[in-house]
Amino acid sequence: MGMGRTRVGVLGCGSVSDKYLPDLAASPYVELVAVCDVVEERVRQTARRHDIPSWHTDMDTFLARADFELLINLTPMRLHAPLNLKALRAGRHVFCEKPLATTLAAADELLEEAARRGLTLCAAPNAVLSPTFRAAAEAIAAGELGVITAARGRYGSGGPHEPWFYQAGGGSLFDLGVYNVATLTGLLGPAKGVVALSGVAVPRRIVGGTEIAVEADDNTMLLLDFGSGVYAVIQTGYAYPMYPSSHRGVYDEHSTIELCGTRGVINWLGYDWAPRGIDVRTVERETWERRATDQQGYTWQCGASYLARCLAEGAKPLMTVEHAYHTLEIMLAALEAARSGRRVDIRSTFPWPIVNGVAVDGATLGGSGDTGDGAIRQGAREVIER
Ligand SMILES: NC(=O)c1ccc[n+]([C@@H]2O[C@H](COP(=O)([O-])OP(=O)(O)OC[C@H]3O[C@@H](n4cnc5c(N)ncnc54)[C@H](O)[C@@H]3O)[C@@H](O)[C@H]2O)c1
Repeated sequence: MGMGRTRVGVLGCGSVSDKYLPDLAASPYVELVAVCDVVEERVRQTARRHDIPSWHTDMDTFLARADFELLINLTPMRLHAPLNLKALRAGRHVFCEKPLATTLAAADELLEEAARRGLTLCAAPNAVLSPTFRAAAEAIAAGELGVITAARGRYGSGGPHEPWFYQAGGGSLFDLGVYNVATLTGLLGPAKGVVALSGVAVPRRIVGGTEIAVEADDNTMLLLDFGSGVYAVIQTGYAYPMYPSSHRGVYDEHSTIELCGTRGVINWLGYDWAPRGIDVRTVERETWERRATDQQGYTWQCGASYLARCLAEGAKPLMTVEHAYHTLEIMLAALEAARSGRRVDIRSTFPWPIVNGVAVDGATLGGSGDTGDGAIRQGAREVIER
């Protein structure tokens, strides 16, 4: 495969664009062609700061005039689906910040549109690309922990900086819990059902100097049923800035995910999007063993440049839109379960195991743990090397 470059356009020049744009600019597989934001001053400055030749304040003009193949959608969550759809209809591949959409009907439409046009659609989170994810998946596949029976993920904060996070279509589950949902299903496979409690714990708050009413749930706990008596619990909220650690402490080594099996446990160190490795302890070896502390260039914002590389090389991305869809279905089902007080079944699945050799449901556990795929062992940036 040749060393082509993918022409990229970035939509939304808010806070995360400051993370994405340097990552994209540093990639030899990316040609940054244009940026778009409805706030003119912001998009103009972004283009200047990152040396991007063309900027737009209107998405239609952006799509009509700028010559790019891959759109990176970094707009507020409630706009993801309509703007992704617009981009697909204009023949662009799409990488979207999480979540893919905020309703399942909208997500269905996106998947259909992408399939019909033969376009690639991907959404964050991208934790499956990290060496830490791979190490956890390999330990599970090797049967080191016996059969995984229980798992736990937790991700809270004091709440983000923009009012839209607290409005309909926002909330801590879509903003934060989404990472744990994607990581735990990535490791354990498709979930079959969910029960949950979810509500607003801090009904009024000051955001950007203005007092606002909180509409979207800022406190959610959900339980996932993976079948065969295997369960996971996820806690997420905007109502506790110091748990599991200060958000500034993203680089500390607090465990935020635990996987418990019949013969051992894994503690995932750091957040799943800023992983620091895993600690493994088994009945055969009771001392903790630390693994995968070198992230080999993996960052939470590398999903867009990774997809650009996949497109340039004609490789299949490890992140799948089916997994993003499954993650969305779980989150929506959790909110419905909380409202109704009932368990909600999950219908969708996704290609799994994500790392070759992983097989975790009680029936199939006990793989060799050898992925047989040197490419996957080499880290996020090298993951598509064949
Ligand atoms: N803030 C974080 O730390 C963080 C981390 C990871 C992921 N995310 C996700 O990234 C996305 C963006 O978050 P953010 O914090 O950068 O938000 P933000 O509010 O800072 O930025 C969003 C930008 O989108 C622009 N925008 C709004 N409507 C638009 C439209 N129709 N066309 C073009 N631009 C439009 C806004 O003007 C703004 O500049 C969200 O999906 C969020 O969940 C955020």
